[in-house]
Amino acid sequence: LASVEVDVSSLQPGSSLIVKWRGKPVVVRNRTEKEMKDGEAVSLSELKDPMARNANLANDAPATDANRTTPGKEAWMVMVQVCTHLGCIPLGQEGDFGGWFCPCHGSQYDTAGRIRKGPAPENMAIPVYQFISDTKIRIG
Ligand code: FES
Repeated sequence: LASVEVDVSSLQPGSSLIVKWRGKPVVVRNRTEKEMKDGEAVSLSELKDPMARNANLANDAPATDANRTTPGKEAWMVMVQVCTHLGCIPLGQEGDFGGWFCPCHGSQYDTAGRIRKGPAPENMAIPVYQFISDTKIRIG
């Protein structure tokens, strides 16, 4: 399927769902206030990969917390949940940074899915997506 539509009306802050898109798991997470604040508090100089890796933005967009989300919907992470090291599926809300932890070789991602520790070279990818209503996202 070129694109999928996801109903997110049941996702309370702090909950996630995973959909398959082009054979890959895409996580949709309604982040908590704390997760957003933690993500915003990180300065670019702390990041191993300073690029947003957001298919909705220019290739050279910096990896701010806002650039990992979409304007007006900063609570929401929509992200290909595939480790950029060797492609394992990280576990959500694990590890030192409260984001994702890859059990294969220990890569740790923060609450915006940015690589913070371990062998993975890049932030996890943000696919093309948009909110087509308050409760519906189209991915792809
Ligand atoms: Fe995730 Fe190696 S595949 S750390």
